[in-house]
Amino acid sequence: MKVRHLIDPCDLTVKEVEELIKLANLLEKSPDKYNSCCQNKILATLFFEPSTRTRLSFESAMHRLGGSAIGFADGNSSSGAKGESISDTIRTVSCYADIIAMRHPKEGSAYVAADVSEVPFINAGDGGHYHPTQTLTDLLTIYNLKNKLDNLVIGFCGDLKFGRTVHSLVKAMARYKNISFIFISPPELIIPDYLKKEVLEKSNIKYYESTSLESEIPKLDILYMTRVQKERFFNESDYIRLKDTYILDSEKLTLAKGDLSIMHPLPRVNEISPEVDSDPRAAYFMQARYGVYIRMALIIKLLGIKEDLC
Ligand code: CP
Repeated sequence: MKVRHLIDPCDLTVKEVEELIKLANLLEKSPDKYNSCCQNKILATLFFEPSTRTRLSFESAMHRLGGSAIGFADGNSSSGAKGESISDTIRTVSCYADIIAMRHPKEGSAYVAADVSEVPFINAGDGGHYHPTQTLTDLLTIYNLKNKLDNLVIGFCGDLKFGRTVHSLVKAMARYKNISFIFISPPELIIPDYLKKEVLEKSNIKYYESTSLESEIPKLDILYMTRVQKERFFNESDYIRLKDTYILDSEKLTLAKGDLSIMHPLPRVNEISPEVDSDPRAAYFMQARYGVYIRMALIIKLLGIKEDLC
């Protein structure tokens, strides 16, 4: 059987995403039924960049399925610090684990890794490029909140240049009917051209760009806030100038629809005021929780475990 990897948010078909969402909801509802699905299976989490949610939810997912997890949370504690290549690391870890999730600061590193991996390989974030398992988490959240993945107006706000969660979700949502996007950012942090030309314009997706959160918020079904990605800036003074451009607070939310859903991949810095957490429209901690169930579903799928054998 050919080994399946997940590098790009569109490596899974729309039908496969639908199946994963269904399975994730079953996993949440009846966790005991699946608690030995991955007995004797090992997940390796190789994190060359900081993470709280992605790494720990992957490890939690594997433990909840009866498997175990090995790995590192800091590239400096791996032989990468001695100059080992990504290819050699992955070839080696393929001998120790049944499935691998890797986060790396270099865009494209996931392709290099998947190319040599002998076990299913998952891109847990490659630089400012893609973050497909965050996208699956986001799709599960949107589906459970709205009971659909089509006919939505989605606003992305903040760092749309470096935000890999934005790039991934735009690409994935562009496959659904009657989706329109409003991209709200300072001119320095606009969405990359390749997404506009090769994804949105090619598929005739409606979108426009704006610098004002206040003027766009009344139109939105979903507001996807993002952190300005300090670690991708070359110049600290640019980061300081741009980091607090948008701060969502209760006052701005008075302009929004009653059934708006506020999402954020987290971590947040200042871009959502803590007073918003108690607003019923805030969905970002629910989103973090769903990350475990969708990653459980993904592990089951990529390991080729038949659900009825769980
Ligand atoms: N959303 C996300 O990727 O969070 P972490 O960086 O904490 O993994």
